[in-house]
Order: sequence, then structure tokens, then C-alpha cells
Amino acid sequence: MQKIVVTGGLGFIGSHTVVELQNEGFEVLIIDNLSNSNIGVLDGITSITGKKPAFFKIDLKDKQKVAQFFKENKVDGVIHFAASKAVGESVHEPLKYYENNIATLIYVLQEMNKNKVTNFIFSSSCTVYGDADEFPITEKSPIKKAENAYGNSKQIGEEIIADVTKVKNLNAIALRYFNPIGGHKSIKIGELPLGVPQNLIPYVTQTAAGIRKELSVFGNDYETHDGTPIRDYIHVTDLAKAHVIAMKRLFEDKQKAKMEYFNIGTGVGSSVFDVIKTFEKVNDLKINYKVVDRREGDVTAYLADVSFANTELGWRSELTLKDALRSAWLWQEKQEIK
Ligand code: WQD
Repeated sequence: MQKIVVTGGLGFIGSHTVVELQNEGFEVLIIDNLSNSNIGVLDGITSITGKKPAFFKIDLKDKQKVAQFFKENKVDGVIHFAASKAVGESVHEPLKYYENNIATLIYVLQEMNKNKVTNFIFSSSCTVYGDADEFPITEKSPIKKAENAYGNSKQIGEEIIADVTKVKNLNAIALRYFNPIGGHKSIKIGELPLGVPQNLIPYVTQTAAGIRKELSVFGNDYETHDGTPIRDYIHVTDLAKAHVIAMKRLFEDKQKAKMEYFNIGTGVGSSVFDVIKTFEKVNDLKINYKVVDRREGDVTAYLADVSFANTELGWRSELTLKDALRSAWLWQEKQEIK
């Protein structure tokens, strides 16, 4: 049984990926510092899969601890999620983002190299494309200047990994996620934002639950069918499965290059109003909202061309926006803070 380290394995995408890895028979070791996650997620994972993954409370900024972990645990691959991810915050706290997202990546890669661990999957983002000019976005679309420190940290992260693969025994895949949403069908794990949500879906679900008075729709004067921005919302379970397929690709030596990049989205674009309407319909609820000014740093559209992931990786999304918005609401209903 192959052993996979999942950093940030108690976070939103990490926890769903741990479930899919365990379902496929992999042994999982989670590293998480609990800075933006909850230890209770471990019980959720255990209850879904019937197996408790090994858990290590390690802050990856602690170089010594990272070294000790890799020395003491013989592993076959690493999926690296642990990072800070709030776009807005990254504008005001760039150093936090460069330390959390770049320094930790370097420490992990150094220890993988020292301990001859050669398979690496990197949690990348559609933000690497910056404010794209053409849609849908393919992997060959230009990497434009990042709009914020978060996006820049993902661009730099990809470059660091690519440089290492050129000279060291490292095979890597960067998965560029579009907008991950939804939760596991068991409703035992889901998205758990701390404080006021920054992202659309948790804000919608918390408004429906009465925790937030109303949703602010950030602008309706964009050049789209209804004036609100378009995103490619991808169900987190589909996204999690992409990681399992990518890890198998590394183990089975199917790579065409030592560093590969794949867009992970659905190829379907939805506006903010489309999301609100679909949420109201599938859950039979009404959302209070008002249109306010545009949010700084927002782009008109992100939409993935997923044909490369379909044909080369052999992955495609199966769940819909409706599935995601239904599971997001069922998860919200289970939360205690109401
Ligand atoms: C979606 C749309 C907002 C909140 C996210 C991640 C980012 C990256 C891509 C991975 C936008 C609108 C939102 C609200 C609103 N993923 N909105 N009212 O900005 O596309 O970025 O996905 O790396 O890290 O953060 O997602 O959910 O914040 O916004 O009108 O209260 O919803 O303007 O059009 P975004 P989001």
C-alpha cells in the first residue's frame, strides 16, 4: 500500500482528497497546523472511510520538524495543499503569504529530495493566469502578471517546482483549480470558513441560515449575460478525485514531462446571479441580496478549457452546480453556529 503525505489534509480540499485516497486504498499521513482547520475533521474522514488517517500537527514553517517527519516516515508521494488562500488578505499581508506558501514549499521539497521521495502534486490555481484575455483558458494560455500576492505565490511555487524537476529526481503535477465548492455527499465534511466568509458559496449558505443579513453582490455592470462575473465552479469531490488520478499517473510513470500542469474545472461558466438562482431552486429557499460596488481585484470571468485534463489525465468532472449547492446547504444546516 503506497503511503501519501497530505499537507493541509484537514482543510477543505485536503480533507475531501484524503477521503478519496483512502477509498482507493492509499495509506494517508496528514500534516496540518490547524491554523485554518479543525481537528474534528479527522472524525468526519474516519467516519466516511472507516479508517483513521495518521495525523501530525506540524507547522511546515518549522524546518526542523519537517526534516524530522520525513526522516521518521518513509513515504511514496506528497500532495501539498497547506497554504494561505485568501486573495484579499494576501494584498495586505504579502509577507505572510510568501512565508506560508513559498518557504514551506521549499522545506517540503528539500526534505523530499533528501529522503528520495519523488512524486509531488501541487495545489495550484486558476489565479496563475491573472486577468485572462481569452476564454476558455487552456494550459497554454499566457501566465499574466498575478493580480495579488496569493496568485503570485502560486506562480512562483510552480516555477520553483519546475526548476527542481529539471535537476533533481522529482516528478510533479500542478493542478490549477478553478472555484472549488460543495461538500462530501455524506455531509460529514465540508467547507468551514473561519469568521466572515470571503467566498461566494459560504456567504450564500450563511445568509440562507440567517447568520448573515444579506449577501452583497459585487457589481452587476460586468460584460456578461446578466452583468455579474462568471466563474467555473467545480465540486470539491470531483476536484479531490483529480488528485488521486494524478498521483496514480506519477506512480504508473505515465508522465509526458517531469512537470505537468492541468486545469481542473468543469468548462461550464456560472454568473453570481446564476449561482443565487440555482441555490434558491435546489434548496427551495430565498437569499436576501443587494448589488453593491465591484470588489477590488475581481476579474470578469474565469472559465476552464478542460480538454487536456479529459484526454491526457483521464479525468472529468461528474457532479453539477446543483449537486454542489445542495451539499453546501445540507452541510451548512448541520453546523452549530446558527
Ligand atoms: C466568486 C464570485 C465575486 C462573495 C476563488 C478563490 C481563489 C481561486 C479562485 C483557487 C466573484 C462574487 C463573492 C460575495 C459576491 N481559487 N462574490 N459576493 O474571487 O473567484 O476566487 O476562486 O485558488 O483563491 O478565492 O471566488 O467565491 O470569492 O467569488 O458577489 O460575498 O462571487 O465578486 O465574482 P474568486 P469568490
